[in-house]
Amino acid sequence: MRTQSTILAKRASQTARFTACALGVAALFAANVARPAEVEVLHYWTSGGEAKSAQVLKQMLEEKGDTWKDFAVAGGGGGNAMTALKTRVIAGNPPAAAQIKGPAIQEWGDEGVLVSIDDVAKSEGWDKLIPSQISSIMKYKGQYVAAPVNVHRVNWLWINADALKKVNAQAPTTWDAFFKTADALQKAGITPVAIGGQSWQEAETFETVALGVGGAAFYKKAFVQLDQATLKGPTMVKALETFKKIKAYTDKGQTGRDWNMATGMVISGKAAMQFMGDWAKGEFTVANKVPGQDYLCVPGPGSQGSYTFNVDSFAFFKVKSADVEKGQKDLASLLLSPKFQEIFNLNKGSIPVRQGMDLSKFDDCAKKSAADFTSAQSKGTLVPSWAHDMVVSPAVEGAFYDVIGNYWNDDSETAQQAADKLAVAAKTQ
Ligand code: BGC
Repeated sequence: MRTQSTILAKRASQTARFTACALGVAALFAANVARPAEVEVLHYWTSGGEAKSAQVLKQMLEEKGDTWKDFAVAGGGGGNAMTALKTRVIAGNPPAAAQIKGPAIQEWGDEGVLVSIDDVAKSEGWDKLIPSQISSIMKYKGQYVAAPVNVHRVNWLWINADALKKVNAQAPTTWDAFFKTADALQKAGITPVAIGGQSWQEAETFETVALGVGGAAFYKKAFVQLDQATLKGPTMVKALETFKKIKAYTDKGQTGRDWNMATGMVISGKAAMQFMGDWAKGEFTVANKVPGQDYLCVPGPGSQGSYTFNVDSFAFFKVKSADVEKGQKDLASLLLSPKFQEIFNLNKGSIPVRQGMDLSKFDDCAKKSAADFTSAQSKGTLVPSWAHDMVVSPAVEGAFYDVIGNYWNDDSETAQQAADKLAVAAKTQ
C-alpha cells in the first residue's frame, strides 16, 4: 500500500515533470519568436524603378527571417494608398507598416493607432544618424513611430540630352531660357514638356515653378507659414502665370496619364523635359540610361540654390501579434541600415537619409542632390515639399491640389483668382 507521503511525493514529481514540460513548451514558444513574422507593408511603389526598390526591401526583410506580405496600392503620390489605409485602420485591421509621410504621421499618432519603435531607434542611435528636421517628423510625442528611408529632391527638371542637342540649346537655368528652348523644341516637332494630368503632378510642377520664381524665403512664407498676404500677393500671381505658360508646351493626351508614362516620353525622346522629383531617375535607370550622357538632371529654372525635400518613411501600427511586433522591429532596424540605405536608394533615385554614408556608388545626380542638400541646409534654403505631404496638413494639401488643378485646366480663370483661392484653401480645417 502506498503511503500518503509516497503519493504526495509522486504528485510532486509529476507536478515537477509537468512544470518542466510546460517550461519546455514555453521555451519552444520563445524559440518560435524566431519563426517568420508575416509583416504586411502598405506602399505605393509600383512603377518600374519603384517596384525594384520595393523588391530590395522585401528581399532584405526576408533575409532577416521574416515574411513580406505585399500591400501595394498603385497610384503615384500615394493618394489611393492613403484611402486604402484608412479603410483598413477603421476596420481595426491595420498593416504592420505603411508608407506615410510628414504631418500625416502626427495625425495617425493622434488617432492612437501607431506603435513606438523608440527602443530600436535608441539602441541604434537614430538621433545622430538622421538630420533633426527629419527626425522630428518621425516622432510622435517624443518617440519614434516611423522610420525614414531616403531623401528625394523634388525641384528637378529632367531633360533628354539628344532633344536638347537637336535645338542647339543648353539646359535652361532661367525662365526666359526655358521658354526660348521650349519654343525651339516645339518648332522641331518635339513635345517640350511631358506631364500627366493628375492633380498631384500639376501641384508638384507648380511647386517647383513657385520656388524658382519666388525663391526659398517666399516659398516658406507662402507654403510653410501659410501667410495670407503672400499666398495672394504679386509674387504668387507671377508664379501662377509662369506655371500656366508651360501648358502651351504640353501635349493634348495628358489627362490621367501616370507620372512614369510622362517620364517614358522623355526617355524615348517623344518629349524633351519633365518637372518631377528624382523617383523619375529610377525609370531612367531601369531603361539603362546614363545621366550626363542620355539625360540631364538640373534644378528647375531659378531654383538652383534651393532644395525641396520629400522624405519617404514607414509608420508602424499597433498589432495584436508578438511575432508581428518582432517583425516590425526587424523592419525598423533594416530601414536605417547602411546596406539597405545604399541599395534601396541606388534604385529609387533618392539619396540616403542616413548621414555619413559613402556615396561612391551613386551617380552625379545623386551626388549633386547630396551636396545641394547640405548647402541648402546651411543657407536656409532647404524647404519641405507641400505637394508631397511634407508640410501642410492633408486637408490643406488636398485643397491646394484642387485650386492648382482647376487653374491649370480652366483657361478662363485668372492667376489672381487662383491666388485668392490658395489663400482661402490655406485655412481648410
Ligand atoms: C513618393 C515617392 C514616389 C512618388 C511617385 C512621392 O510622393 O515620395 O516615393 O516614388 O510619389 O509615386
